[in-house]
Amino acid sequence: MSSSHTPTLGSTLRQWWRDGLARDGFWQTVRNLANHFWDFLRESTPAQRRQRYGDADYDWDYRVDTTSATVNWHDRLLGEFHSAYQPTEPSFFREMMAVMASLEIDLRSFTFIDVGSGKGRVLLMAADYPFRRVLGVELLPDLHRVAQANIRAYKNDSQRCFRVEAVAADAREFLFPIEPIVLYLFNPLPEAALIEMLSNLERSLGENPRTVYVLYHNPLLEHVLSSRAAFHKIRGTHQYSLFRSRAQVGGSMPTLNQGTGSRRWAKFAG
Ligand SMILES: C[S@@+](CC[C@H](N)C(=O)[O-])C[C@H]1O[C@@H](n2cnc3c(N)ncnc32)[C@H](O)[C@@H]1O
Repeated sequence: MSSSHTPTLGSTLRQWWRDGLARDGFWQTVRNLANHFWDFLRESTPAQRRQRYGDADYDWDYRVDTTSATVNWHDRLLGEFHSAYQPTEPSFFREMMAVMASLEIDLRSFTFIDVGSGKGRVLLMAADYPFRRVLGVELLPDLHRVAQANIRAYKNDSQRCFRVEAVAADAREFLFPIEPIVLYLFNPLPEAALIEMLSNLERSLGENPRTVYVLYHNPLLEHVLSSRAAFHKIRGTHQYSLFRSRAQVGGSMPTLNQGTGSRRWAKFAG
């Protein structure tokens, strides 16, 4: 990522303030700002910081650094306005992957992409499955560098995929590879940014039809996925939702009506 795209506190706050004014008006934006700073202060107490070490078992087992406990105050404050770094629990990840396995698809033809890959724990866990390749996209350069070091350090006899890569980029500008994809989301983006990223993905799917699964952990913004014409939900519990790109049915193409007009979808590979 070029330095002009590196988020600073100043640029993040300015953008957040502009978006907030447009969406919520002045006073609500002031209240939201106060809430963010209050959350940040609450999360900074010694008790809360100590509690974050509770997620370090994985690091002990594999001699890596994926805990949220050691994220510095600057990146935690940035995280308040983008999305705070929190790694996925390994047991939840295994459960979700068991669901993927039950689909009886050949993972070897899929690229696994973790949007908002942070320190890369999900990339390491996904590497234990036979994906074609594993890719992470992370906004914050400090977290991205730790992810790269983790990928180099990771050693596990059960590793099945060795093409593991982390890239530093804003998910809203990410160009999706023209490959079948398992897209992993653990609430990396606020609603407007998620819509922007999905619109890019749908455009890419329209131009190059292929199968995409969206595996959404703790799906707080599930309604955003549910409202997209290009995806439909095929599995889910309160822990995750699994969406799949729509297959072409009998030669007809799904149509997306989006307020100002409709967009015709190119054929989606089944
Ligand atoms: C809840 S954490 C998830 C970490 C990781 N995916 C996991 O499950 O272990 C969300 C991550 O999204 C990142 N993020 C926030 N906004 C982003 C953006 N616009 N582009 C890419 N990453 C972003 C945050 O920095 C954070 O690391």
